[in-house]
Amino acid sequence: MNHPGKHAAALAALEHVKLDTVLGVGTGSTVNVFIDALVADGTRIRGAVASSEATAEKLKAHGIDVLDLNMTGALELYIDGADEANPALQLIKGGGAALTREKIVAAASREFICIADKSKQVDVLGEFPLPVEVIPMARSFVAREIVRLGADPEYREAPRTDNGNIILDCYGFHITDPLTLEAALNAIPGVVTNGLFAARPADKLIIGYDDGRTETVLPPNA
Ligand code: A5P
Repeated sequence: MNHPGKHAAALAALEHVKLDTVLGVGTGSTVNVFIDALVADGTRIRGAVASSEATAEKLKAHGIDVLDLNMTGALELYIDGADEANPALQLIKGGGAALTREKIVAAASREFICIADKSKQVDVLGEFPLPVEVIPMARSFVAREIVRLGADPEYREAPRTDNGNIILDCYGFHITDPLTLEAALNAIPGVVTNGLFAARPADKLIIGYDDGRTETVLPPNA
């Protein structure tokens, strides 16, 4: 295993999964380890709501039913990774371009457990470039607005998102007020959403260390 910290966090999340429930499942390499561990553990869930096509394919390949969020109602639990997490458990997500569906599933879930290796813990968000999902025709306009907000947006030369949109990766934000920045970016016409999870942070953060230890972090007011 190349990333023992991710592995440790993913394994620790298993104990939060309840039998015969519908689980929200995020996207990324840590979540991929979690899915493999869930299957290896034999934990039987009723099905899963996936935050991306890639996760849906992986779940199906393991024989797990992938369900439509429109049919499931609210979910008990969502498990997903992050690119950065601050002490309030506000996150930057979207390195894998799945931020919009991730934000939807997180919002529709009663509990959001974030799993990550130690390298993702930061005091202030923003060193990781903040992904913003944008409707293609608005790309240049949105980029100019982001410059006005103080960052340097870079067009991600990669396949479109699962929703058919593009990603602008925003460099140079030093995010001391994540709630305000999340709202300001989302108010720009053409922005679908941005990768700040501040209005809906994680409820628990499971940090995995390279020596296999884990630590569960709660927000300061919990
Ligand atoms: C996907 O769009 C992201 O939000 C991921 O959750 C995030 O990039 C974490 O990915 P890793 O688990 O691969 O580090």
